Amino acid sequence: MLDPHGTPPEDVLARASNLRAEIEQHNQAYYVHDQPTIGDAQYDALLRELQALEQRFPAVLTSDSPTQRVGAAPLAAFSAVTHAVAMLSLANAFEEEEVLAFDKRVADTLVQAGVIKPSEPVTYACELKLDGLAISLRYEAGHLVQAATRGDGQTGEDVTANIRTIRSIPLRLNSPAPAVLEVRGEVFMNHADFERLNVMQAQRQEKIFVNPRNAAAGSLRQLDSKITAQRPLRFFAYGWGEVSDSLPATHDGVLQWLAKLGLPVNREQHATVSGALGLLDYYRTVGERRSGLPYDIDGVVYKVNSRQAQRVLGFVARAPRFALAHKFPAQEAMTELLGIDLQVGRTGAITPVARLAPVFVGGVTVTNATLHNEDEITRKDVRIGDTVVVRRAGDVIPEVVGPVLSARPAHAQVFQMVSACPVCGSTIEKPEGEAVARCTGGLFCGAQRKQSLIHAVGRKALDIEGLGDKLVEQLVDRARVKSLADLFTLTVTELAAYDRMGVKSAQNIVQAIEAARQPALDRFIFALGIRHVGQATASDLARHFGSIEGLMRASEEELLSVADVGPVVAQSIEHFFSEPHNREVVAALLDQGIEPQPLATRPQQSGLSGLTFVLTGTLPTWTREQAAEAILSAGGKVSGSVSKKTAYVVAGEDAGSKLTKAQSLGVSVIDESGLKALLGDA
Ligand code: IVH
Repeated sequence: MLDPHGTPPEDVLARASNLRAEIEQHNQAYYVHDQPTIGDAQYDALLRELQALEQRFPAVLTSDSPTQRVGAAPLAAFSAVTHAVAMLSLANAFEEEEVLAFDKRVADTLVQAGVIKPSEPVTYACELKLDGLAISLRYEAGHLVQAATRGDGQTGEDVTANIRTIRSIPLRLNSPAPAVLEVRGEVFMNHADFERLNVMQAQRQEKIFVNPRNAAAGSLRQLDSKITAQRPLRFFAYGWGEVSDSLPATHDGVLQWLAKLGLPVNREQHATVSGALGLLDYYRTVGERRSGLPYDIDGVVYKVNSRQAQRVLGFVARAPRFALAHKFPAQEAMTELLGIDLQVGRTGAITPVARLAPVFVGGVTVTNATLHNEDEITRKDVRIGDTVVVRRAGDVIPEVVGPVLSARPAHAQVFQMVSACPVCGSTIEKPEGEAVARCTGGLFCGAQRKQSLIHAVGRKALDIEGLGDKLVEQLVDRARVKSLADLFTLTVTELAAYDRMGVKSAQNIVQAIEAARQPALDRFIFALGIRHVGQATASDLARHFGSIEGLMRASEEELLSVADVGPVVAQSIEHFFSEPHNREVVAALLDQGIEPQPLATRPQQSGLSGLTFVLTGTLPTWTREQAAEAILSAGGKVSGSVSKKTAYVVAGEDAGSKLTKAQSLGVSVIDESGLKALLGDA
């Protein structure tokens, strides 16, 4: 009998060691390089095999086994850790001038010390400034023995049990590892992981985090590491503390060495550059990339690359003179939520908009931010009077991220959705299962009228230049323009009397209006703002019906016979023209002498025009792209799904559900040679 507590057999030890190494490799591939090398099921199988061995032979279990990343017994409190080498902070810069001054200071000092020649540019290592938490990892003889937060820089908290659950952090370094190595870096959370975590938190009715940084901090400060183990934390190394070996001569060289030891280093985003212009160039490039990065950064960090030069430069107070954080405008800020207004869109969609105490965020002063819809307000538990986090990333509209619960005043008020439109008083409807509430007032509603007009004169519709949102609002407010037709009665004299209007701009606008009297039929249809009718559908409808009267007369059945028009679109069009008011607007436009121009029908290239094809399976000689190309250039259409309107399904080998569907609908099925015959005949 085998004694499970005795020395396990050689082959078991060897297998366990191989499994540990293999699983850690997959952890690296997945968590550091974002390039999984095996599927989840295979990964789980490896982990289960190792667990089984460890259970059967407890002597196989090592403290650095990947099975130990699930968390340990909860702590009563974190113990204090004194950092062997203090964890410093960085001097900040916001303006280009500060960066130029930094580079000049560095260069002057280094020239004076004889480290570089006058006019020789300084070489810098440039990195992202990740918006997470600084952490120090201590490895002894290659084993992770301790992890501590920064704390006040001298003393931090021991979060070893939590850090061990982060799969991108190696529990053991690759050899040859130094006797002592303290690695410093940032613990953070990716956006996608953060969103998923919040969805899960909401499902379990637990705390919603306002941003990834907050979620990372909360997760790292868990006394129960089993909870941390379920949080998708990541880590990138950017520095070091105590090290027993001698280090490479440059910062960049040290990072390369850390990467070789198996530590995650964000090398793809790093650069070494020369002089101040190199720094500013890096700042600009990263700024452009910022919104596409999978995590939050709040700036970039410049570090003099040569370690000898770093020593010459030394430190001031608690920051190195050789490094600088160049910050981006903050994308998030806190401010007071003064109230919630309701905005009514073109189709009646009602958007709650936060009225905010002015706050500088993302480089501009923000006073309004979207709250998306009523469900979002409830989900985030945002109340009027709350201090809220506002986010403005890149060019996207500012949004309220969530309330700062710790700052909630006693008078904070829960938002009550109204049942009548705040603009026209019509009933508000919110269909079951939809998030968006809508005003049912249609063009009776002033807000919808304004938005419809703004849509109608837009570049993709009637394209009336100079007729801006503000002017449209004034025209509607003064009841001068009640519908699109009224626009065509405007005169230079009256327009010139409007706010910020001169005779010249009034003349230009009237000229632009005149030029829109003979719009292409598709633009005219699009301008009407029928729900679900975008530019492409408008153009299909224009070609199919040839006139606005034809479209207005069309039955649902006829509408459905237009390619790409399905039941939702057909019903929406029918509903639109069944409203007397909408018919009146069209009639008034035609009375005003507006003449929509029929589109030139596409040249009849072949007998394939009007026929829709669906391609499925592998064709013997053509790729599907080639077949599609041939069909299109012969005037036919290619669609991705089979319906009654499909003329032919071209099926190759291994054709799947599309073939079955074609057969069940009685659609003709041909093969590649059948298609070629059609093309030949065509
Ligand atoms: S170096 C002596 N590099 O920024 C230098 N810090 O404002 C110490 N941070 O506490 C830090 N990315 O949490 C450095 N690439 C980077 C960084 C970085 C983010 C954070 C870190 C630090 C804070 C200083």
